[in-house]
This record gives sequence, C-alpha cells and structure tokens, in this order.
Amino acid sequence: MADSWVNSAERIGADLHLDLSGAGSRRAALMGALRDAVRSGRLAPGTRLPPYRSLAADLGVARNTVADAYAELVAEGWLTARQGSGTRVAERAGPPAPGRTPKKGPARTHGPRHDLRQGTADASSFPRAEWAAAYRRALQAAPNEAFGPGDPQGRVELREALTEYLARARGVRTEPDRIVICSGFAHALRLLFDGRVLRGPLAVESYGLDFHREILTAAGVRTLPLTLDEHGARVGELTAGASRARAALLTPAHQFPTGGPLHAERRTAVVDWARARGGLIVEDDYDGEFRYDRRPVGAVQGLDPERVVYVGSVSKSLSPALRLGWMVLPQGLVGDVVVAKGEREAWASVPDQLALADFLVSGSYDRHVRRMRQRYRGRQDRLVEALAERAPGVAVTGIAAGLHAVLRLPPGTERSVVKAAAWGGVALDGLAEFRHPEATMPHADGLVVGYSTPSDHAYGAALDALCGVLPPD
Ligand SMILES: Cc1ncc(COP(=O)(O)O)c(C=O)c1O
Repeated sequence: MADSWVNSAERIGADLHLDLSGAGSRRAALMGALRDAVRSGRLAPGTRLPPYRSLAADLGVARNTVADAYAELVAEGWLTARQGSGTRVAERAGPPAPGRTPKKGPARTHGPRHDLRQGTADASSFPRAEWAAAYRRALQAAPNEAFGPGDPQGRVELREALTEYLARARGVRTEPDRIVICSGFAHALRLLFDGRVLRGPLAVESYGLDFHREILTAAGVRTLPLTLDEHGARVGELTAGASRARAALLTPAHQFPTGGPLHAERRTAVVDWARARGGLIVEDDYDGEFRYDRRPVGAVQGLDPERVVYVGSVSKSLSPALRLGWMVLPQGLVGDVVVAKGEREAWASVPDQLALADFLVSGSYDRHVRRMRQRYRGRQDRLVEALAERAPGVAVTGIAAGLHAVLRLPPGTERSVVKAAAWGGVALDGLAEFRHPEATMPHADGLVVGYSTPSDHAYGAALDALCGVLPPD
C-alpha cells in the first residue's frame, strides 16, 4: 500500500486520500489511484470528485494533469461529467462501497488564566445545531428495537457509516462486522488488555500519554519503550531491544506528543514484524483528520487489516464528552472484544451512536472537521507568528498536524520555563510529563502547547503570556 498518501480535497466537502506512488507519469499515477479507489469502494458511485484546481493544488500537480486524468476516466466509463454537477464516480463503475446501505482530557470548569494544555477539542465550537438536527433525524428514523437493550458490538448503522468514512478519509480497509463501537481510545485499551484479548509485553513509544500507560500498568501489562527520532518510533527495536513485545502501540499519523508521522519505511517494517512474529499493532489514530500540509497520512491498518487494531474516536474531532469511539479489528478478534465488552451495550449510548451515524452520512462530520481544520490552522499560524516575533530562538515543531505544537527549549530549561509559566497563569506541560519512566533515549527539553482550548477573545492574551515566559533568543 501507499508510501505516499496525498491529498485532502477540501472543496468537495469530503476528504479523499490518493496514493500517487506508482511508477510512470503523474497522470497515469493519478488515474491508477482513482481507479483503485473506485474499485475498492473507497470512492462510492455518485461521489463528486474535487474540482481540477483544488485537486491539482492538493497533489502538487498541474491542473491539466488532473483534467486529462478525469477526461480519460470518463472515456473509460469510471467517471461521469455533467455540466453543473461536476465530475462524479459513475453509478456502475465499481463495487458498491462497503457499508453504504442507505439507511439505510476532561472539561475544565476552573483553571488557570490561560489554558494552553494540549488535549481538548475547542469546546466552544461544538456544532450544537447540526448535532441536534442529526439527533432528531436519527430518533425519528430509528426502529423501535433501537430502544431495547443494545448490541455490544454497536449499532449497525454507525458501523456502516464508519466503514465508508474511514475508507474514504483514512484509508482504513474494513467491513461493518469488523468494527466494535466503544467509548473512546481509553475504553479500547481496557477492552484489549483488561479483557485479555491481547497480552503484553507491549512496545510503546518513549513519549506518550501517561494516562494510557496507567491503564496498561493497572491491567498488568509490561510496556517497553521504543526510541523516537525524526522518523517516528524506531520499530527496528522490535526485533532487538524490545524483542519480547507481542504487540506495539503506535500513533503513526502524528506521534503523540512530539508530532511527526511514522516514516513510510517504518510503517512497512512494523507490519512485516507483526506478520513474521504473529504480533499485533494497536494504531491510535487520535487526530488523523487534522493534517495541514499536503501529505495526509493514511492509516497503517490499510497495509494489513489482519495485523492492526485501528482505534479512533470523536474526542478530537467533535468532543471528548460524547465518549464515542471505534475499534476496527482483525476478524479473529471481534468475538473476543465483544465478549470483553459484556452482554449489553454498557458504554456508548445507542441514540448517540445513531446520531453519529446520521452526522457522518449526512456530511455534517466532514463539514465540521473541515471548519475546525481551518480554525486550528489559523490558531497555529498565530502561535508561529507570535513566536517568530517574540521568541525567535524557540523552534516550533510538530505543526503539520493536530491540535498542539512542541516548542523546543535550550537544554536544562524546561522545568524552569514550565514553573515560570505557571506563575504567569499559563498552564502547559513540559515534554518530560509524557516520557516513559524506562525510556533510555536522551530527553530534549520542550513544551507541549495546545492551541485549541482558549476562546478566540482570550487567545491573544494567552500567546502574550506564553511569549513572556520563553527565552527571548
Ligand atoms: C494520544 C491520544 N490518544 C487518544 C486520545 C483519545 O482518547 P479518548 O478517545 O479516550 O477520549 C487522545 C485524546 O483525545 C490522545 O491524546
């Protein structure tokens, strides 16, 4: 599968990943990628393709390349073009998209003056009206049995909607019956490890969320830290230093918290390791939708759905308060996870699941993510500008994606800067907060700065306060 997943087609109102890594001309590669997407059902019949200009800009190719590729695919019968309705996937171009059957960090009430801790989606942007509309539609359409005891695997409507969305936007290969709905990533970890579906030792990244490590430790799972470098986790250590690991927990799209994607060669290497050793990869795709450069990174799961447990949730995209997430599982693990979940749906409210299904199918989710991406991008630009002006010695990293950035500090200064920030009313974390206690790689001082939380009117003051405590050069 793709080494180079490219393109976010902003203007059609939907994300689209295309792999242009094939040999030959750009036009031929684009045609091949579009045919593959249609053939595999990732692009469903009737789906509108992005206009030439926006796809060309996203892919970094000439406009004519896109126009020629579209024209040839129309001639071949894969696409149709009609005045006024743009270019669409032909109705009988390929197999139906799987699952397209028509229906058919805690809220902070009291806190510091400026909250730049990472972790929470912008609570003030929760799409109240759209969510309420989706909820109303979902309740009206729901059959009576939806209000009985829930299926622990989750509502089929949501699993179908996710199958389509995850294939299209994240390159995930699945079917509805391989998805189990859960209440978020933390719940997925508990189901997998408390539920004894997977066993340790578990390789983890040397920097990660301590909360997740605590869940694993409480489940009696030994974690083995993998070194991180500019290409992400050194997965080669799975066959050396961490060779006892039976599974690996990774954040491949956007290493949490340091920020880079897992290098293409390492994506392949970790899948090869899992195949050779009978290992499993747990893929935490916590903010995969929020990528700002031209190279959105598809899920590792697409490389081998039998070796990856892919986990996502709405915590970054909508709100952590909803407690809704999904696990995409190798076929053989579905039954075990459902058993671990218990006989009745005890976690994710069924009406919420139906509302999310409607939110996805109606396009509201895509629209919301696109709006939020622009908003976070604007926030990030302001952070970068403020630092360039007022603390030019501080390098900003990890900004190609996500809702936080990492500010690199001179060696030995992290603790004092975090302390000074706290005195100045600015809450943020140093990188050390995220370090695995047994990590052996050298620590590079830095701050993890979340830019999604402060309200618009407070953000400027938060940036001023932040710059005020940073070393000036
Ligand atoms: C690294 C990481 N993984 C996963 C999540 C999502 O967690 P949950 O789905 O349990 O809210 C978060 C936070 O939103 C996170 O920071």
